[in-house]
Amino acid sequence: MPAITSTQTLAIDGGTPVRATDQSWASWPDNSEAEWESDIEPALRDVYLSRTEGLPATQCESFGSAFAAYCDGRYGVIMPHGTDAISAALAGALDLDGIGEGGEVIIPNYTFIATASAPISVRCSLALVDIDAESFTILPEAIESAVTDRTRAIIPVHLGGHPADMNAINAIAEKHDLMVIEDCAQAHGAEYRGKKVGALGHVGAFSFQSSKNLTAGEAGCLITNNVDVRDRAYAFKDVGRRPGGERWEYPRLGWNYRTSEYLAAILLKRLPLLESQIQRRNENAARLTRSLDEIEGITPPQLKDYVTQHGYHLYMMQYEPSAFGGKSRDEFLEALRGEGIASSPGYQRPLTDEGALKTVAERYPDMVRRLPCPNVEQASAHSIWLYQYMLLGESEDLNDVVEAIQKIKVAFTS
Ligand SMILES: Cc1ncc(COP(=O)(O)O)c(C=O)c1O
Repeated sequence: MPAITSTQTLAIDGGTPVRATDQSWASWPDNSEAEWESDIEPALRDVYLSRTEGLPATQCESFGSAFAAYCDGRYGVIMPHGTDAISAALAGALDLDGIGEGGEVIIPNYTFIATASAPISVRCSLALVDIDAESFTILPEAIESAVTDRTRAIIPVHLGGHPADMNAINAIAEKHDLMVIEDCAQAHGAEYRGKKVGALGHVGAFSFQSSKNLTAGEAGCLITNNVDVRDRAYAFKDVGRRPGGERWEYPRLGWNYRTSEYLAAILLKRLPLLESQIQRRNENAARLTRSLDEIEGITPPQLKDYVTQHGYHLYMMQYEPSAFGGKSRDEFLEALRGEGIASSPGYQRPLTDEGALKTVAERYPDMVRRLPCPNVEQASAHSIWLYQYMLLGESEDLNDVVEAIQKIKVAFTS
């Protein structure tokens, strides 16, 4: 694709957009009439005609096992959401009953709110720490300096699909006797040194919410190799029951976070498609990165050498205003969207600056501890995110992204 060198009028100034506003990206979820007829309709019909839409939840059990196997883990427990998968994971790993204080959990200060709200829901307090400047995942050194005698667990988030540095994190956990709960909501199929995320710590939590790389609209799952963690998490989800236990026997306190059989049936049909979709995203991302590497002021995702497969829920770039005539990120994003390129600034502030956590910190000062987060400040101010479905399209889609950025750069700097 030839680089743009002469000034063209930006779409926000009345010019023709690089990409027509009615031109769609690859659709997500990738639903089709053909797939409905061949796969989805028969699966939903089977559930319907079996008259087993809930307990004993055979589809849910099958999906838990299938997804655990996909993640190279032993046990999988399907949940209604990723958020409650994290709560159940903590309840399982730390043996929490929701009544006693859970102790402190270390999380990155650059993540979705659920990474913070789920621990609070099981009475854990939070220490929010810095991220690595390249991978945007929790910084092991920041974890180490945040550990106190109240610390019970670490929740690394594989943000955007880039795995956190699990060997370093597990070593810190072992040294201080902490549990590691991977937040894998954005990282289905991502690999750390050849191993899938999810079973790299004590327990992993996934989301299948509608934007996620495997979805049934809403749902979640936790994965663990430890049977006691599994049993406690299972009790959390199924009113305190034991897996395979008596229906009216409740060995632990638990709630109802069971999932509909219809959702599990859909997930079972979609799981086999996941790996080839990941590969397509990785190929397209590599192609996009090669082109964006040529544009000064845009830093494409930097993959750590331990990443053997990126999950690419997000394509996270960094924008440097000085290379774009001093124009702010907001001005750049406005121009980019004007050219027809879907994009977002992502999380625009550290989580501790969000109203939710500010209010908790004001009312309950012991619940939220913020450690120095210079890299979070940097990422919040400079990030530009493209979405996973854009990487499922054709090479022309990615050419449009590159062309739009080149066009804006020429316009901003001439
Ligand atoms: C990093 C992260 N953690 C947790 C969640 C929570 O998942 P859910 O929306 O399924 O509750 C999400 C997704 O929304 C997320 O992006």
